[in-house]
Amino acid sequence: MRNKITIIGAGNVGATAAHWAASRGLGDVLLLDVVEGVPQGKALDLLQAGPVDGFSGRVTGSNDFADSAGSDVVIITAGLARKPGMSRDDLLAKNVAIVKSCAEQAAKSSPECVLIVVTNPIDAMVYTAFKVSGFPKNRVVGMAGVLDSARYRTFLAEALGVAPRDVNAMVMGIHGDNMIPLIRLANVSGVPVTDLLSEEDLNAIVSRTQHGGAEIVNHLKTGSAFYTPGLAAVEMAQAILTDSKRVLPCAAYVEGEFGFSGCFLGVPVVLGAGGIEKILEFKLTDEEKAALAESEAAVHKQMEATGL
Ligand code: LAC
Repeated sequence: MRNKITIIGAGNVGATAAHWAASRGLGDVLLLDVVEGVPQGKALDLLQAGPVDGFSGRVTGSNDFADSAGSDVVIITAGLARKPGMSRDDLLAKNVAIVKSCAEQAAKSSPECVLIVVTNPIDAMVYTAFKVSGFPKNRVVGMAGVLDSARYRTFLAEALGVAPRDVNAMVMGIHGDNMIPLIRLANVSGVPVTDLLSEEDLNAIVSRTQHGGAEIVNHLKTGSAFYTPGLAAVEMAQAILTDSKRVLPCAAYVEGEFGFSGCFLGVPVVLGAGGIEKILEFKLTDEEKAALAESEAAVHKQMEATGL
């Protein structure tokens, strides 16, 4: 039997996630949205790519949560996107209501699924989904680290003139200006980037990564990034559906790991059939620990604003 993936929200991120999921052959994809016709139209268009792209999964669109019943993975992308001048926090009040309703309904129709939350501000929205779904912490995960790390790896690869896939680098913490692109552990096929790039160049890349989302919002003017956010969510879904134990930076509920508790933080996790199977805790330097504490404080502020 094929896996079933429901993507809630048929906007740019949701539709792009559906595209990557179908193209990678992850299973049957359902695109769900409240707007009549949009998920149906986009799904039908994507389905018709099957003969050319070579995938066999079904792609359908719906306005009815009942159609998502029995999903293995549900990706929540529904919500408003950022416009120029808006911070991710500005979205909080509006998106908390949307994510609440989506997570409630997803938990009812797919009680065994893993929930992947993409809606911004991600760290507060994944907490919202965790609270209202009643799911165990391993089955609720936020997408941010894969996207932020992809940006970091792209900029490092550009500066080094190497293949992006050979750059291993991780962004931890919040999905916001306090995110932590780790310099100490970044490497190209094992060679430390600190031996290859100047401190000045590395600091510029770190800063560009931290503002990577805003850079795209400023170009687009009417919305935010979607190709890589959509792919990042699908990369996580694929690791879960194939039980591949990929190690990816994700927003996970911490209970003592890295010295923090009771919130979602971007940390390296093992993703498999059970969702988050493990958080890979490692020793941080004092400076990294202080940066993570700043992230945690910002996440807690966002969590309070959800009123949950
Ligand atoms: C970004 C938005 C999705 O980082 O937060 O592009």
